Amino acid sequence: MTAVSRRALLTGIGVGAASVAAVGVGAAAIARQSEDEPVATGRTYDFYGAHQAGIVTPMQDHLHAAAFDLTTTSRDDLVRLLQAWSAAAAAMTAGSPVGLYGAVNGPYDAPPDDTGEALDLPASGLTITIGLGPSLFRTSDGVDRFGLADRLPAGFGPLPAFPRDTLDEAICGGDLFVQACADEAQVAVHAVRTFAREAFGTAAVRWSQLGFGRSSVTSSADSTPRNLFGFKDGTNNITSDDAAGLDDFVWVQPEDGTDWMTGGSYLAVRKIRMTIETWDRTSLREQEAVFGRTKREGSPLSGGTEHTVPDFAATGRDGAPLIPTDSHMALAHPSANDGHRILRRAYNYTDGSDGLGRLEAGLFFLGYARDLSRQFVPMQLRLSRSDRMNEYVRYLSSAAFAIPPGAAGPGGFVGERLFA
Ligand code: HEM
Repeated sequence: MTAVSRRALLTGIGVGAASVAAVGVGAAAIARQSEDEPVATGRTYDFYGAHQAGIVTPMQDHLHAAAFDLTTTSRDDLVRLLQAWSAAAAAMTAGSPVGLYGAVNGPYDAPPDDTGEALDLPASGLTITIGLGPSLFRTSDGVDRFGLADRLPAGFGPLPAFPRDTLDEAICGGDLFVQACADEAQVAVHAVRTFAREAFGTAAVRWSQLGFGRSSVTSSADSTPRNLFGFKDGTNNITSDDAAGLDDFVWVQPEDGTDWMTGGSYLAVRKIRMTIETWDRTSLREQEAVFGRTKREGSPLSGGTEHTVPDFAATGRDGAPLIPTDSHMALAHPSANDGHRILRRAYNYTDGSDGLGRLEAGLFFLGYARDLSRQFVPMQLRLSRSDRMNEYVRYLSSAAFAIPPGAAGPGGFVGERLFA
């Protein structure tokens, strides 16, 4: 499928031109072009650019993420899939249907190009972020399926096993990854469904996850949301206006030595179930000690307001640290991690209930870093060993993906430099 709508062709607005034009909140309205009247798109984010959207983009309320396993052994098929995904992503993020004819204007006796469930909805701030798993380069038993093994970035591989992990292999890993975030859940789901459809015969969905109610902040203009433990989450995150922080900790730099990844990032995915029934019977004192912050304001237990710098040396009358040394914040803070930071972009999730009267709920953790092995892995190890929060969570999944830089423009695709 090519990602150009009929109206776009008739009016001369190619998908690329449309998406390039439509950047930022209140950008010009672009129609879901199969219909007679344009529909306002709400906020739109350009798919093309130096970095992929969906990393520092202000967090939308809904997530649909999915990992795919390649069923093909052909490198050409893989390239064609990444090209098709990029073209479809450019269309959908601009608020256009995919394919030449969209949902309803094609031949009556053929399946529609676009599945149609987002037809009357605006672009809804959709971002689509595409990732490549370590298994794409080399399988666990050393097979180089696509002639990419010598292009594997140094330090990038499957995440190691962490203490206390109780992983379900079926929801770990994956050759390819897509993260769709949008203001409307249905728009995010449409994006992942379209990717699955484009992948038919080349790749199959390995796992997918819906998330809601952003549980982090990537823009200093946004307020801090709460996770399902009821605490503000994202207070001390790297935000889009922190250019130095992004260069130091998020974007791969030329000196990192993997040319095709320059401008990209790496992603750690961890599905973390919360045993909320236990949590809900826990005192407020213990809950605040778990995070080292107050529940109401999110301020450090050493005093001040939400964004006051925590004082880990401050002690109470009994001489004990006001911020417990095993609290989540104390262990995740840069001062405990050789100055390293990561960019968090997590979402809450609920997957129904487990048949024992307990909600299957938690945090779908997405953490971006310039180098997972130096920034994320030691931090996760520290948390897995000692985090006071461990009593109330179970790590269910683990995955790592290389997130290449953005596609340059129409006709370009995510990962293009890897295959050059
Ligand atoms: C269910 C799982 C988790 C919950 C509920 C949770 C919640 C929180 C909360 C409430 C804060 C304090 C406010 C803030 O600065 O955002 C925080 C901070 C933080 N968390 Fe988590 N978190 C979880 C998992 C993780 C994981 C897996 C990592 C990384 C391996 C992580 C890394 C961090 C970092 C780096 C900070 C900022 C610490 C600082 O600089 O003060 N978190 N988290």
